[in-house]
Amino acid sequence: MASSQVKRIGVLTGGGDCPGLNAVIRSLVKTSVTEYGWEVIGYEDGFEGLLLQKFRPLSGSDVRGLLPRGGTILGTTNRCNPFRYQSEIEGRSVEKDMSQTAIQNFHSQNLDALVVIGGEGSLKIALELHHKGLPVVGVPKTIDNDLDCTEVTFGFYTAVETAKDAIDKLHTTGESHHRIMILEVMGRTAGWIALEAGLAGGTDLILIPEIPYDIEEVCRSLLARKRYGFGVAVVAEGARSVTGETVTHGTNALGFARYGGIGYKLGAEIAERTGLDVRVTVLGHLQRGGSPCAYDRILATRFGAQAAHAVASGKFGDMVALHAFRVNTVSIKRAVAKVKLIPPDSELVRTARDIGISFGDPAGVPSSVALTGAP
Ligand code: F6P
Repeated sequence: MASSQVKRIGVLTGGGDCPGLNAVIRSLVKTSVTEYGWEVIGYEDGFEGLLLQKFRPLSGSDVRGLLPRGGTILGTTNRCNPFRYQSEIEGRSVEKDMSQTAIQNFHSQNLDALVVIGGEGSLKIALELHHKGLPVVGVPKTIDNDLDCTEVTFGFYTAVETAKDAIDKLHTTGESHHRIMILEVMGRTAGWIALEAGLAGGTDLILIPEIPYDIEEVCRSLLARKRYGFGVAVVAEGARSVTGETVTHGTNALGFARYGGIGYKLGAEIAERTGLDVRVTVLGHLQRGGSPCAYDRILATRFGAQAAHAVASGKFGDMVALHAFRVNTVSIKRAVAKVKLIPPDSELVRTARDIGISFGDPAGVPSSVALTGAP
């Protein structure tokens, strides 16, 4: 569909929230209204809004002042998949394919396109809807930075900033008390937040899912900090041991594993094996909240404008993406085909190793360090 035929578009935010969502909405609405003269409606609470017809018009004045605001004015949920809609019938939970209702509702609003701002789960749903004929454009969102085919997702650097600030604070208290401080950060199966926050905060140890840790090496690397009297470690929530141990708590409605608690498990193991005084902090949803940093505001603004241009040029089934400093589009199908993980031999990992940061694996830890004693 050429831009002259587009008159009205819809937008929704799906999955976990992330700093910069409002900045994307603002930029998309401004570009749609001023550049193309379209009307925009915003569906509330992700795909649930599309199914239950919860929406509101979004004009230029509705998005004024949104650039620095965290969260999403449209609301979001990671519990609604139109292809596997959960409802209760006579006290029993039943799953139903409601995708046709979603498509009918879209057409009943005379929409010409739907912009889905979401992570892997929401974009997979968007792709399935596109296969059923819905003209969809995606905008990649996640603090985890694990979406493929884009170099960065907005929200990631704000989360890294929050984690870096936490590491800075743990350094001062850890040093004062001669303790080992462990910070657990988010990221699901990817270690991007842990790796970049660990580099920015200068931690001694970084544990990421992509490099399985050996508890003996973890202990050795922290005992090697003995001469400094304290140590700081960052652990990704999805970190796994060489024997395959992780900490998960079932799955969410989109089928993704729920993480949280590996920091406590590691803290207890380290304290028991080494006698070190260990404290654990789980940063949790602080990483998703708050105002986006400058980088995320700019990237979100570029993504929002590019999403409008993608609609105008009929690039349905595509997602906006950052590649070699330029924002363009790639097919959602390619982007969701695999999760973007950290290559264990990447330059970032090598740089961390070069400056003496341990990943809890045999590489880089002097085996001469004894496995006992306090710092
Ligand atoms: O995908 C973003 C993310 O913040 C993950 O890092 C984390 O595991 C998950 O969402 C937590 O989601 P929930 O909103 O269900 O707590």
